[in-house]
Amino acid sequence: MKGIILAGGKGTRLYPMTQIVSKQLQPLYNKPMIYYPLSTLILGGIREILIISDPAQLPHYKTLLKDGSQWGLSIEYAEQAEPKGIAQALTIGKDFIGDDSSLLFLGDNFIYGRLDFLRKAIAENTDGATVFAYQVGNPSAFGVVEFDANGTALSIEEKPLQPKSNWAIPGIYVYGPGVSQRAENLTPSARGELEITDLNRTYLDDHALKVQTMGRGIAWLDTGTPAQLLEASHFIKTIEEGQGLIIGSPEEAAYRSGFISKDQLAKTLESLPNCPYRDYLQKRVLTDNVFG
Ligand code: TTP
Repeated sequence: MKGIILAGGKGTRLYPMTQIVSKQLQPLYNKPMIYYPLSTLILGGIREILIISDPAQLPHYKTLLKDGSQWGLSIEYAEQAEPKGIAQALTIGKDFIGDDSSLLFLGDNFIYGRLDFLRKAIAENTDGATVFAYQVGNPSAFGVVEFDANGTALSIEEKPLQPKSNWAIPGIYVYGPGVSQRAENLTPSARGELEITDLNRTYLDDHALKVQTMGRGIAWLDTGTPAQLLEASHFIKTIEEGQGLIIGSPEEAAYRSGFISKDQLAKTLESLPNCPYRDYLQKRVLTDNVFG
């Protein structure tokens, strides 16, 4: 399974903050936003990752994440010349995906909680597509899925005025081999984008779209507006201070996933400056080795 994090876009709702710095590099409480989806992919067992962003921002992602070897990963980079839709990530990633399955994660989506649902989807998805479903109070703001008791999707609609369910589709999608060809065959929408909902609808039409629910114990937060960014930051601060554990550290995720050994973690920590982030990893992960 290959992982793709899409980290381009216009970020107009965060303007003027996004005038210079890409949305997914902005601080989400105490880390760059992209650390969170990256850590989620690592905890899902994914080691080969492609980061897609616009040409001006991609060098910053390379400086931040490097080739991933410090975390036992292989990270590659690709440009999206213009933000022409989320589904375009699958065409840009065609060579990277090859004949494998892939998981596309939007870089401004934040998930917190037990990741069993994700591991299950990764393990069970073969040829078709799996999308996730999360209950929301305002479904009209999202892609909405209606499904039967077996998790078979019956319909998906983008921002419907009269939603058929309360189940929104978060920005995490799992695809079997061949997704790039499907994405290439899509017709751009009225706004000139390759729409992820249109891509998922091709699987629905082929009876090959599965829906995996994310239970109430999971927090899924979008961080696209200043208010959402602040709320998600408070959420992270609350959890981190309450537990004395941090969320969204690629170092910790890689260590717990067995991607790096204790010695490798110690070496990676040596490259960090003296700071609370390094202190945490040193004391709570390397020395105490708390699990949970
Ligand atoms: P959006 O939040 O829909 O768009 P945006 O990030 O450009 O922000 P705004 O609406 O404020 O202008 O995008 C969802 C995610 O997908 C986000 O992480 C950016 C990313 N994205 C791309 O990287 N390329 C694209 O072509 C599109 C449409 C989105």
